[in-house]
Amino acid sequence: MNDMYELGALTEPLCLWYEKNKRSMPWREAPSPYHVWLSEIMLQQTRIEAAKAYYERFLRRLPDVKALAGVPEEELLKLWEGLGYYNRARNLQKAARLVVERYGGELPADYDLLLELPGIGNYTAGAIASIAYGIPAPAVDGNVLRVAMRYLDCDDDISRASVRSKLERSILAVIPKDRPGDFNQALMELGEVICIPGGMPLCEQCPLAGDCQGRLHGRQRELPVKPEKKNRRLEKRTILVFLRDNAVALGQRPEKGLLAGMWEFPSLEGHLSLSGVKTYLEKNHLEAKDIYPLEKGKHVFSHVEWHMQGYVVVLSSGQTKDILPGLVWADRKELQSRYAIPVAFHSFLKQIL
Ligand code: ADE
Repeated sequence: MNDMYELGALTEPLCLWYEKNKRSMPWREAPSPYHVWLSEIMLQQTRIEAAKAYYERFLRRLPDVKALAGVPEEELLKLWEGLGYYNRARNLQKAARLVVERYGGELPADYDLLLELPGIGNYTAGAIASIAYGIPAPAVDGNVLRVAMRYLDCDDDISRASVRSKLERSILAVIPKDRPGDFNQALMELGEVICIPGGMPLCEQCPLAGDCQGRLHGRQRELPVKPEKKNRRLEKRTILVFLRDNAVALGQRPEKGLLAGMWEFPSLEGHLSLSGVKTYLEKNHLEAKDIYPLEKGKHVFSHVEWHMQGYVVVLSSGQTKDILPGLVWADRKELQSRYAIPVAFHSFLKQIL
């Protein structure tokens, strides 16, 4: 088995193309290790355009590793609200604390040491090392895998770790020593704007079109090969938005598991009808002044899909009984500035704010 992919001819045309076409992005203006790190973690889950505003707001509040290490978790999650994958924010902070402890607040200029930090895998370590420190290291994300498999007309399954590491080794062999960060970003960017996923790569505009084996064989739309996605589990839930005076009841999710530690509306399994909700309230000795349904909501996570039926339950001011253990009452201001509420619930939030 040949344990390298042949990518030597790609370097020059790719770098020339990038030089002329690179897009402006806030983290490219001052690519400090912290800036690159933060942007790459955000971009793992969010489109570039959407990430910009989060990135800038985050940096205004937490301008360096030390600030990130010291921020209360509640505030960190609030800054991350809307980005999803909240454990990434927690890992960011865990890593920041280690960076302060071990390296005085400067991320190490060493691929292997970066890899030891929580939340930093091969891709992120390679991006920080190459973009911020100019160290020749590969940064292989989904874009890079797609570009390479099409360029090579290669049927290898990109979900396999061995394929990724073979591509990492192959990139290391051709990465320009004087501009590794540009090379890595050029590959990603080509995948984002030209060699785009799905059936419509813009081959006419591609600087690699002349050499691209996938295109020469007319197979660029079939590649890359990845296994069928497993079906997601579907969960029906009933969301209860309790309102009392000007406040909304929120509960905190468990420390572990999906959306750990985030705030949410109380919910019940299954889709309850209006009379089902009334029965539930009666059983719990809660007297509602008004109950009305909200528009349905749906949220797709990687392994599960929530289909949510929501109801507003208006309680009278006199109803001071702890409606369920552990709930807090949040007013409008606190909903916006204090409690981190996952995007999964934002459609309901919007309907009541
Ligand atoms: N996607 C993720 N990180 C990127 C970067 N630094 N440049 C271009 N595209 C990216």
